[in-house]
Amino acid sequence: MKLILLGAPGAGKGSQATKIVEDFGIAHISTGDALRANIKAETELGKYAKSFIDKGQLVPDEVVVKIVADRIQQEDCKNGFLLDGFPRTVAQADALARLTDIDYVIDIEVDFSVIQARITGRRMCVCGETYHVSTYKSDVCAKCGKKLYQRDDDNEETVANRLDVYRKQTEPLIAYYAAQKKLVSVDGNRSIDDVYASIKDVLHGNR
Ligand code: AP5
Repeated sequence: MKLILLGAPGAGKGSQATKIVEDFGIAHISTGDALRANIKAETELGKYAKSFIDKGQLVPDEVVVKIVADRIQQEDCKNGFLLDGFPRTVAQADALARLTDIDYVIDIEVDFSVIQARITGRRMCVCGETYHVSTYKSDVCAKCGKKLYQRDDDNEETVANRLDVYRKQTEPLIAYYAAQKKLVSVDGNRSIDDVYASIKDVLHGNR
């Protein structure tokens, strides 16, 4: 199974991806995570990407396309994979179509009015867990005990830019995949578990 999770910043792509890959035994490919790993390791790619990410802009298409092209060749992708945060432009979607076929494109629809609060309240752990200050009161990870931190691009100003970029460059992908009859939308304004129940219905062919 190969699927794409579409959705605005903070729509809940990462939260749903964690559940899907665990249940369906497929690889999780997050271009955001891959870029942040490069930033942390201070690679040349990471230094280049950081200048875009910190401003809430997209990293150039050729950089992220190469990350995905290399990643989907790896052994753990043989069973299938989930793309989280890719594609984000029509050029990326066209490049992906040249690399492989996709079975499902799920768009998580969330009102923009809830997104600022979701993102600015997000806390991360180095192990990959994600929390929200409204529902998780500790500052250490429940899974591994490490101290939680806030992403550098999770501040109000950068989030506003990310949403603007989403509207202009990523939202057109909804029509792109609808035209291919691959798009299914789910209401992401509900709880994480309710959203996941809808996604499971789609992946089990019940919708
Ligand atoms: P990326 O890391 O992909 O960030 P994003 O798309 O902006 O999405 P987020 O990770 O912010 O949100 P999410 O939808 O995963 O939400 P989450 O589940 O964490 O990209 C970062 C940057 O990298 C980009 O700005 C760009 O510069 C660059 N980049 C990445 N990919 C690129 C590409 N393909 N091309 C070019 N540049 C690229 O949830 C958010 C919060 O809400 C959490 O606290 C969570 O607990 C909470 N939450 C989630 N769901 C719910 C719910 N249903 N109810 C209540 N709370 C919820």
